[in-house]
Amino acid sequence: MARPHIEPFVDRDVPFKKLTLPGFRKGIHYKMLSLDRDTGACTMTVRFDAGFRQPPGFSYSEYEMLLMEGTLNVGDKVQRKGAYFFVPAGVHLPAVSTDEGALALVFYNFGPPSFQESDADHDQADRTKFKIINAYEDLDWITEARRTPGVAPGCCVKALAFDEKTGASTFLYCMVPGFWQDNISYHDCAEEAYHIWGTSFMMQFGDLPTGGYFWRPAYINHGCFKSDLGILAIGRTDGDLHNYFHHDPYSTPEENHERAAARLARQKPALYKWIMTSEHNHLPADFEHPSDVYDAPAYDSGIHMHEDGTAHRHAHTGAHSHLKPRAGAKAKPRSKP
Ligand SMILES: [Fe+2]
Repeated sequence: MARPHIEPFVDRDVPFKKLTLPGFRKGIHYKMLSLDRDTGACTMTVRFDAGFRQPPGFSYSEYEMLLMEGTLNVGDKVQRKGAYFFVPAGVHLPAVSTDEGALALVFYNFGPPSFQESDADHDQADRTKFKIINAYEDLDWITEARRTPGVAPGCCVKALAFDEKTGASTFLYCMVPGFWQDNISYHDCAEEAYHIWGTSFMMQFGDLPTGGYFWRPAYINHGCFKSDLGILAIGRTDGDLHNYFHHDPYSTPEENHERAAARLARQKPALYKWIMTSEHNHLPADFEHPSDVYDAPAYDSGIHMHEDGTAHRHAHTGAHSHLKPRAGAKAKPRSKP
């Protein structure tokens, strides 16, 4: 994912904009938090107006949604604050509506936001990973660090989603009042997070309050941390997360790369040597995933999204398409190219 480093950013500082992308119904407003200009993948704060109505339908990209305020009627069930949706590409939701309005955080993981009206799943959709749970009520906090080395005591987690193929994960996390961690960290993967409530402080980027957000590419130093009154947040990674801890506030991303590679050479010398000496300047094949292990499970809809919420549609090579568009799915874009 090629999103730029965005940190810190606070969505309270910017106004909502009207979402006018093809297919979507009226009554959706958004704040763009981060955007991959190559794929259209993005994270947005989204407001559904009171009275919003949407027929059954699916997205051509996998998406996740956390309902932060209000209620959403999804089919015959009412989803409340804390509802977390994991919706694979092509899996349809029943009709969605809200009488009082709703505020949500929405992650389109591999492609631009899209909505195709349909009362059935796409032929190539995989419904087995679909879920709607209430992240606040249905799960217990994991109070022990899940990784070695792990975060300091007082940072608790609820696991929401895990991609076994890539190691990408989504989790709710909290810091208890008085939390602190006195080392510096970086990872081999990108990290993003949004503060649902509360303020934490970080040495490099200062205070991150309610509505605070970051998309942080790999190998960027972050920490030390503290939070006086505690926080509630949702976080995501785009790959397997290892905590590289250290105490050098001046190390660069290049030096952090070197240190990570040195660890790989120590711990998996045969793999390191094979990669380094076989002129592997291409992505290695994976016989278990013969298509392409790095391929995103999303259909390239040809919608090119701009940061201001407008979009246009154009022909693509289809190089990373998995789902094929349905007949009649070529909705005319409403916005200007
Ligand atoms: Fe981190």
